[in-house]
Amino acid sequence: MNMDVSHFRQEAAKVRLSKAAFDELLCAKNIVESSGQDHRFDTTPACINPLRSPILHAELNNIRNMIDHETHVLILDGFKVDSLAVFKSLIWTFGSLLGKPMVQNHLGHKVIEVYDRGGKSIEEGARYHQTRQGAYVHNDGVSDPLPIDYLILACGQKALLGGESILIDASAVYAELMTFPDVLTQLKCDFFFENRGMAEDETLFKAPILSFSDSGIPLIRYFRVYIESAHLKAGVPLTLAQTQALNILDAVLDQSSVQHRTLLEPGQVLISADNKFLHTRTHFIDRNVPCAQINDDERLSDLNRYMLRMWLRKP
Ligand SMILES: [Fe+2]
Repeated sequence: MNMDVSHFRQEAAKVRLSKAAFDELLCAKNIVESSGQDHRFDTTPACINPLRSPILHAELNNIRNMIDHETHVLILDGFKVDSLAVFKSLIWTFGSLLGKPMVQNHLGHKVIEVYDRGGKSIEEGARYHQTRQGAYVHNDGVSDPLPIDYLILACGQKALLGGESILIDASAVYAELMTFPDVLTQLKCDFFFENRGMAEDETLFKAPILSFSDSGIPLIRYFRVYIESAHLKAGVPLTLAQTQALNILDAVLDQSSVQHRTLLEPGQVLISADNKFLHTRTHFIDRNVPCAQINDDERLSDLNRYMLRMWLRKP
């Protein structure tokens, strides 16, 4: 695995699987494809025998170690293919080998297609991945009480303009907030969250926005629109102190000093520890008129901005 981690505070580490590991990944993909032809592509997880795929096994361990203990985020390059069907299968195979895929919606899907459907806005109830909106800094693990260990965002096609990823280290945010102890106190208390889009029945749960790992690393759970919506549904309005704490948190998240921007290119896969890195994207303009559904026989080069998202737990 080739990597350059010398500037990871300023720039996400860029990593590439070795040729031998990628070949082992392609073998695993072919096995998954041959075993699950009657099902949706994200039904049967891939598996490898460490003895028969030792290089891929070792490089996956290396990636997990970087996300768990080192950079907490990286960009994995080298997944550029022509066909949408192949891309979906390749990302599913890789993701299901890196971790245990989590269900991401009420339909039981474990891979979510991120593209603008041309429909409702987030404020009107749409989920983020169905729009072309930017601006809300968040992490994804806000709809489930348990966190996401590895968030995967795989770029199939970029937008005509915009759609940059903005990454924000929760540790940098915490450092900025040290001068606002009252805000820290508020953020460590419980807020209401909702399971938007995750199940037919809407349920609310409580969790703090800011907490800490056993080793003292700041952990974050934040998506302001969802929190405000959950408090409305719970009939428990945010207090003035809570609202002020969120305003200060948002002001910190807006500062260039905590933000790192990157434009994912087709074939690049962003992997992050979701509860240690917030993210957002800038809004974007697509080439073509948006459509609600995309056929698997499309070529990626003909599509609007198109990403695949997976949520993984440690295997
Ligand atoms: Fe997200």
